[in-house]
Amino acid sequence: MVTGITLNEGSAAQRAAVRNWLAGLDRLSAPMAEKVVTAWVSAWTSSPYAALEDMPYSTMAPEHRLIDHVNHVTRAGFDLAVRAEADWGVAVEPDILGAILILHDVDKPLMYVREDGVVRNSVLSRELPHGISGAMLLREMGFPHRVVHTVATHAHTQPFHGTNPEAWILHYADFFATDRALLLAGTQPFYQRRH
Ligand SMILES: [Fe+2]
Ligand SMILES: [Fe+2]
Repeated sequence: MVTGITLNEGSAAQRAAVRNWLAGLDRLSAPMAEKVVTAWVSAWTSSPYAALEDMPYSTMAPEHRLIDHVNHVTRAGFDLAVRAEADWGVAVEPDILGAILILHDVDKPLMYVREDGVVRNSVLSRELPHGISGAMLLREMGFPHRVVHTVATHAHTQPFHGTNPEAWILHYADFFATDRALLLAGTQPFYQRRH
């Protein structure tokens, strides 16, 4: 029974694979970058996927790779932060914003299973909503509360999102990248939906 993400530093090879994949680590302090790598190694090695490339992103875009989505969101989020600071004087801490962008979907490897080539929601995803298992890991690892609560509440299905600027930046970076993936998959993107 999969109950969540088990903290795991991983092997040198696993840490190198995660480090080579993740965009934006160079914007973080060295201790934060190491914690972020450990969080992703933990999620990966707690998941059913042998290779990082196999981790699915969503049932709405089953061919889209989670590793690509994460980097798209990280890069878009840092770009938005530049605009927010230049145009409106909104300042964010790079360590906090970076951890939130890179880790917002850290529990997704446990949210989906691939059965007969079809991506389906996992049992765990019906026990703990997306975001919660990730936040539980990050809390266990001692990440700052702002990172923990923003990851916990970032999903569009959650009842509210944080009022901190990182939550706002993550939201638009995430939906910008999500809608691109949905358009490519032939799924209606969020920006065209009527609420
Ligand atoms: Fe998400
Ligand atoms: Fe996302």
